Amino acid sequence: MKKFTCVQDIGDLKVALDEAFEIKKDRFKYVELGRNKTLMMIFFNSSLRTRLSTQKAALNLGMNVIVLDINQGAWKLETERGVIMDGDKPEHLLEAIPVMGCYCDIIGVRSFARFEDHDYDYNEVILNQFIQHSGRPVFSMEAATRHPLQSFADLITIEEYKEKPRPKVVMSWAPHPRALPQAVPNSFAEWMNATNYDFVITHPESYELDPQFVGNARVEYDQMKAFEGADFIYAKSWAAYKGENYGKVLSKDRDWTVGKRQMNVTNNAYFMHCLPVRRNMIVTDDIIESSRSLVIPEAANREISATVVLKRLIESLK
Ligand code: CP
Repeated sequence: MKKFTCVQDIGDLKVALDEAFEIKKDRFKYVELGRNKTLMMIFFNSSLRTRLSTQKAALNLGMNVIVLDINQGAWKLETERGVIMDGDKPEHLLEAIPVMGCYCDIIGVRSFARFEDHDYDYNEVILNQFIQHSGRPVFSMEAATRHPLQSFADLITIEEYKEKPRPKVVMSWAPHPRALPQAVPNSFAEWMNATNYDFVITHPESYELDPQFVGNARVEYDQMKAFEGADFIYAKSWAAYKGENYGKVLSKDRDWTVGKRQMNVTNNAYFMHCLPVRRNMIVTDDIIESSRSLVIPEAANREISATVVLKRLIESLK
């Protein structure tokens, strides 16, 4: 595996899951694999879980780790080609990327959607520049359109907790005070569509996701109807995707906050969220604190998904 940016890169999901469970049993099994190999993690945006779990995964594999927060201590970077650089950005990403590539073997990049220009975001300009110009295997630590390390961890979690071969998994939009990217819901949908699960997406009208990610999922605008008989509820907020509303908050309707009312019509569903979560906007305190809440196991599985991905990227170096 030379890059990891989407579900297709991981190949057969059964093989990837077997590898994940093997690593979960003994997370230091491949500690010799990364000896004298260096991971560089580059953050254009904040993180808690991705930063810590990916760093831990690299340590599991015996790697050295360098972490760079672009906005704290690095030169301010110009990212557009053709710009006359007479402003406040002294370095261009097109020099910075190959320079970073000189100091490491593998690069992880976190670069969120900016919501200034749909095409710029959905063409994954920053991530693709790293893939093109770093000379190193690159993986996404959440880009503008996808968060594959999170989705892989979510899949591992569902496989661990499912009580039937084909569970009903419902991804629900939920309210949030700020506009959030579509990366997590896009990615979750992409990974769920690669399984045999009964997958349903529910959101208010005007919150439709890009059809390439919705795929064959059933879309239901009535949240209560969508939740009926569900085995897993995956809550997430996202900003509007379509047309001139791209990146806008169109609703803060707290009827969509996941609480007892909705969970009572499920099949005693597990509750999932990638975190960080705004309590009593996305989900009520009692649901996130209940014995059916999987938010901590999901976060724990981030270490496992990252270990599998880094292992495969190291193996590609040989
Ligand atoms: N879920 C997730 O990616 O968390 P962070 O933004 O804290 O890394």
